[in-house]
Amino acid sequence: MQYIKFIVLTLVLAALTACSKGGEGSVAGGEAKSASTSGECKLVSTKDDSPLAIKVSDKDTPQAKEFLATCVNPYTKVYAADAEAAKAGRKVFTFNNCMGCHGGKLEGIMAPSLSKNTQGGQGAFDQKWVYAKNATDKGMFETIAGGTPGTSGGTMFIWHVQLPDHTGDGLSTDDILKVIAYIRTEYKGDGEKTWLK
Ligand code: HEC
Repeated sequence: MQYIKFIVLTLVLAALTACSKGGEGSVAGGEAKSASTSGECKLVSTKDDSPLAIKVSDKDTPQAKEFLATCVNPYTKVYAADAEAAKAGRKVFTFNNCMGCHGGKLEGIMAPSLSKNTQGGQGAFDQKWVYAKNATDKGMFETIAGGTPGTSGGTMFIWHVQLPDHTGDGLSTDDILKVIAYIRTEYKGDGEKTWLK
């Protein structure tokens, strides 16, 4: 009798385990579907090319999710066509005092110009990207999110809230995408605006 009880109990437990496994499986499947999405844009640090551990979070906007899946910044074309919308990116820029180093007109002060048509004090770095990869939104995202090695003589710190040692409160994926899209609207250099393609 004891033995049969044991077998019955084991069967019940096995059935329950199978059930909960099935449940988990379908939840995971659902997640994979809704974020078909997550982690497909392989971000690497501008400092040392190591992978940047930035993940889709519950709070992420659809735009942030799209970027993390495709490496395309959905705000860039929107801001290029709509100066009113671009103000949201300008806000991230001023709120985080990017202008303290890069200048209110992005002309470059103690850091390179971001509009790329000035003599802000960083010489050649005020006409060309310090890091050629910044000509793509993916590259500029990596630079702002994960910081830089200091090619121009100064380094920029880590901004992304998910990365260790980020500055202050840190910026979300969405904030960084907005500030990039805004920086693109101020571009006055002689390179091609590849980010609009
Ligand atoms: C404390 C000064 C400082 C602040 C504040 C700062 N930066 Fe920088 N930034 C730098 C320096 C210095 C560099 C050049 C880094 C290098 O050469 O490695 C740089 C580089 C960059 C570049 C790459 C420029 C290029 O020519 O390739 C971008 C884009 C950028 N910063 C955006 C931002 C944004 C957006 C903010 C605000 C969220 C910000 N920075 C705030 C100092 C700063």
